[in-house]
Amino acid sequence: MDKIILTGDRPTGRLHVGHYVGSLRRRVELQNSGEYKKIFIMIADAQALTDNFDNPEKVRENIIEVALDYMSCGLDPAKSNLFIQSQIPELCEMTTYYMNLVTVSRLQRNPTVKNEIQLRNFETSIPVGFFSYPISQASDITAFKATTVPVGDDQLPMIEQTREIVHKFNSIYAPVLVEPEALLPETEACRRLPGTDGQAKMSKSLNNCIYLADDADDVRKKIMSMYTDPLHLLVSDPGHLEGNTVFTYLDAFCRDEHFQRYLPDYANLDELKAHYQRGGLGDVKVKKFLNNVVQETLEPIRQRRKELEKDIPAVYEVLKKGCEVARQEAAQTLSEMKRAMRINYFEDAELIQAQAAKYSGQAAK
Ligand code: TRP
Repeated sequence: MDKIILTGDRPTGRLHVGHYVGSLRRRVELQNSGEYKKIFIMIADAQALTDNFDNPEKVRENIIEVALDYMSCGLDPAKSNLFIQSQIPELCEMTTYYMNLVTVSRLQRNPTVKNEIQLRNFETSIPVGFFSYPISQASDITAFKATTVPVGDDQLPMIEQTREIVHKFNSIYAPVLVEPEALLPETEACRRLPGTDGQAKMSKSLNNCIYLADDADDVRKKIMSMYTDPLHLLVSDPGHLEGNTVFTYLDAFCRDEHFQRYLPDYANLDELKAHYQRGGLGDVKVKKFLNNVVQETLEPIRQRRKELEKDIPAVYEVLKKGCEVARQEAAQTLSEMKRAMRINYFEDAELIQAQAAKYSGQAAK
């Protein structure tokens, strides 16, 4: 039991079902597996500011949204430490030292950063903070000596960068840091849940997300208007599964037991898919089934959220306590790092004595 988890999310909006199947559901399972010595779940506000520095209110308001989403999914503060990145100044100190170990060209090659630079039209004027966020992310992970980082595959380049930094630090100074491993979502559908309109990315501006906090009616409406197979015009027409959002969602959400409860004519998803492909199965029937499955998943989350919303100060208190614990942990690692880097002058009595001896020797001559 020496495994440690660290992961987190940028607080730029409420969390949606893509976050849920891609990571949140897994985190709760890992938390409850009892296999981890420590679990740190971080709200990455400092990272969110790297591309929202001109909109701090957005980040500020979404701290509580993300915390509520976390806890309503079942992340339990008694088992998982929930904290806010910006409240741990040790992370910034670590980043300063890690910057020595990374080249500009290495950062330029990071595919996720490349992608995001394009997305944000930063090409001609990339803020340094944004450009170097993979280094700051290495601090997030190493400060807690995380062995395991549950993330989506867009984060793999960050884990790779972290591993390189760890390797370099440990070989130059002393073996203080731990090389983390990514833990990816189980299936392709969980890895890349599309928007309800079939677009690859879920985003607030496209209005194609199902949020964990959406009420039952909104969820039903979003599901009933989901993108399916544009060639499947008549019920009798053969349907296609490729790019069919409803089936991708079923891949991510449904289990055999859901068929017994809501669609007992079929034993499992394979049978449903086969019928759809043969023809004779209408979209509405499949959507209604998906709606039942998703509602069953989201209902307990919504209920817990309602309870938590009754005592918002208590949620901030959870985060505050989490920050205290996280800070102690990060301070311990930083102190080991500084010793390894030979910048621990005042706690090193030998250094002071040796320098004193050198100079008293000189004085005697
Ligand atoms: N980059 C992550 C995201 O965009 C958030 C994040 C920041 C993170 N630091 C981290 C994830 C450390 C895992 C580990 O969602």
